[in-house]
Amino acid sequence: MPTITPDFLDTLKSRVSLVELVGQTVKLTRKGRDYWGCCPFHHEKTASFCVSEDKDFYHCFGCGEHGDAISFTMKSMNVSFVEAVEILAERAGMEMPKLTAADVEREKRRSTLYDVAERLCRFFQEQLYKPAGREGLFYLQRRGLSDETIKRFRLGYAPAGNAAIALLKREGYAEDLIRGCGAVAYPEDGRPPHDYFRNRVMFPICDKRGRVIAFGGRVIGDGEPKYLNSPDTPLFAKGDNLYALHLASEQARRENEIMVVEGYMDVISLHQAGFERAVASCGTAMTERQIELLWKYAPEPVCCFDGDAAGIRAANRAADRVLPLLVPGKSLRFLTLPDDLDPDEYITERGRTAFEDFVQTSHRPLVGQLWGMLTAGRSLDTPERKAALERDMRETAGKIRDESVRGFYEREFRSLLWKATAPYAGKVGKDKKKRTAFAPPLSRPDGEKAETRMLAAYLLLFPQVAAELVENLADYVPADGKTKALFSLILTAVTDNPDMTADELAEYLKNSGEGDVYARFAAETEMLKAKTLNFQTAKDDILARLKYARRKERQSELARLADEIARADEETAAALWKRYLEMKKDEDLE
Ligand code: UTP
Ligand code: MN
Repeated sequence: MPTITPDFLDTLKSRVSLVELVGQTVKLTRKGRDYWGCCPFHHEKTASFCVSEDKDFYHCFGCGEHGDAISFTMKSMNVSFVEAVEILAERAGMEMPKLTAADVEREKRRSTLYDVAERLCRFFQEQLYKPAGREGLFYLQRRGLSDETIKRFRLGYAPAGNAAIALLKREGYAEDLIRGCGAVAYPEDGRPPHDYFRNRVMFPICDKRGRVIAFGGRVIGDGEPKYLNSPDTPLFAKGDNLYALHLASEQARRENEIMVVEGYMDVISLHQAGFERAVASCGTAMTERQIELLWKYAPEPVCCFDGDAAGIRAANRAADRVLPLLVPGKSLRFLTLPDDLDPDEYITERGRTAFEDFVQTSHRPLVGQLWGMLTAGRSLDTPERKAALERDMRETAGKIRDESVRGFYEREFRSLLWKATAPYAGKVGKDKKKRTAFAPPLSRPDGEKAETRMLAAYLLLFPQVAAELVENLADYVPADGKTKALFSLILTAVTDNPDMTADELAEYLKNSGEGDVYARFAAETEMLKAKTLNFQTAKDDILARLKYARRKERQSELARLADEIARADEETAAALWKRYLEMKKDEDLE
């Protein structure tokens, strides 16, 4: 039987969302930071069963039942402790541990490593307010941090020399704890150990319960490296933690929003300004574990990385990494700050409200981020280039494991591709100009299209031109039934008598009971009369209008087809795509 360590259980519990677990059997409603429902362990009508995901704990105020994910599984499924752990491990995708005596020993040491980290944190904090740390304190103040903020984030100062080693030795910490705490360096060439952090402003890194597990140290002013971080230790694995999560969780949960930024200082500035739902990835590209952790607080965390090359790379990396993890309802969003500002500079210069407004209006969904990545720096002007994009698109969508999410990404990508490569994509603007050039806005009492009304006016005034263009006009079918009937009446008349004058046509229409059309199209006929048209110019204008109408019709048909293609399955899409290409060829010939 495996020995299950507290470490394993911690990880297990952090990977299983208690709210989701309980939510499978109990209908939960969120109230503030907690979730409430009817207790599954005793019969009740009012909700007195409370789940706190923050604390990984449930409690029933009715029957007193309480516990964590493991006890919930034991009780609700009537299984043993080990079985419950196995069930949850399976759910979390974790291997059951096969532990040795050495592992058990390591666990014991781990619990005391927390004490070492805490002791060091307090030491660095004290140093900040001693003469040795003055420079550090001034530096933080120069950067606009209040005393309250400094205390809240437990910022400190690591002095020169080997002060940390001296302290730990003086206080009798065992050699292996000093070795394992991550604040002491052991040179490989056999020189004696020395303090890892020297002359640096110290940023303690805590786990989600607020226990100190590691440190980041910043040089004062310029210098390399700017930040030094604890190496991985039994307490700390960079990719498993988010800086300041313990301070951000409350607001994050309340607002159902969380934001990841790049820097420690960014987080601190944002919190100081009241924007407390910010955390930072600890100087790494975002990992799968960090994404899963973020999802415990909000379904669509916002990644707000700097606008420089490194920030763009980090955002792209996060977008790529999240793909295999996507499930319905969960995603990431992305935000790029303007003017090369980082979040610290933005909020310091422009304030919280401006920042919140910017976040609200400027984040883009994952699909937009991916599309930007796929198309960046690419031109789509040849079939081969379009095909290359399509290939990459498929590859990207292929990384999504969830079938439903992947399906929607494939459709969305396809639709974006059609839009980007549609023949009209870049021409819409031109068409607009052309339209206003020959079709000034008209009052349309019956809501009929301006083009149709102008054509009707032409037919009424230029029956001989209509006779010449009968075949072209026959293809044009007004949407409005009354006008459609009028068009066919006129075309029949002029086919019978190609030399018909406008007055003769008017006589003919009156006899056919259509005399009122002259009043109906008065605005348009007046306008044409004012243009002093002759046979040729009228003919040219009618032809131009017909061509325009045809293009517009085709344009909307192409758009409709593209939409349909995006929604269709492979086979239907291929057939539709053929039609699409034919229609497009017609257009190109014109
Ligand atoms: P930045 O250089 O953007 O840091 O790096 P920052 O927080 O804005 O720092 P200030 O404002 O100049 O003080 C972002 C993060 O990348 C990690 C740190 O976590 C830092 O907060 N980093 C950066 C390192 O770990 N080491 C480095 O040398 C630099
Ligand atoms: Mn900065």
